[in-house]
Amino acid sequence: MNKNITIAIDGYSSTGKSTIAKQLANHLGYIYVDTGAMYRTVALYAMQHNLIGSDYIKQDQLIAQLNAIKISFVFNPNLGFAEVYLNDVNVEKKIRSLEVSSFVSKIATISKIREKLVFEQQQMGLNKGIVMDGRDIGTVVFPEAELKIFMTASADTRAKRRFDELIEKGDDVNYEEIYKNVVERDYIDTTRTDSPLVKAEDAIEIDNSNLSKKEQFDLIQKLVTDKL
Ligand code: DC
Repeated sequence: MNKNITIAIDGYSSTGKSTIAKQLANHLGYIYVDTGAMYRTVALYAMQHNLIGSDYIKQDQLIAQLNAIKISFVFNPNLGFAEVYLNDVNVEKKIRSLEVSSFVSKIATISKIREKLVFEQQQMGLNKGIVMDGRDIGTVVFPEAELKIFMTASADTRAKRRFDELIEKGDDVNYEEIYKNVVERDYIDTTRTDSPLVKAEDAIEIDNSNLSKKEQFDLIQKLVTDKL
């Protein structure tokens, strides 16, 4: 019988981490956790309580309210993946808006928030059999993960993917704005002091700018088979 392992997938925003992570988790019968969704949920909470805006962030107040933020994942069999809930309200759609995207990197620089979310992520992975995607999974959350993948793609490729996704959902978006958001988030994610986005030494880097979803899945599936 195959052993259960921990699979950490890190990389820049919109590199398709969650697509591959979901595919792998379904294929292996593993739990899938999108940690970006957890940071997005905290950002949404901050927006709903006027704790963040384009020119302010009430960091101390937000930290004081962290215990009031309950994040959970509930599997939706129709979608084939778990949706995220904030205090028992489904916020899966809301957290994907461009507005949340524009605030979330700032939220993710706050150490007290990272501490809370990293702890919750480690609890979810205690029994292994998990695919988790984010920015610090292979470096901070599960430094002992058996398989670490680091995904990259050019900023233009990523902005185009994000644009197509939002247009398909019916959002009224502008490509330049999305490109700017991608570059801005890369900058904040890689230069923050606490757990910046870096490739773990033992991670395998995959640039998927020119890979189809199938090519990418086949490549990663082979890496998983080697580990099992
Ligand atoms: O993967 P995403 O775009 O949904 O992530 C949203 C933001 O959250 C991203 O700008 C960086 C941050 N993040 C993080 O700092 N650490 C993680 N493990 C996951 C996401």
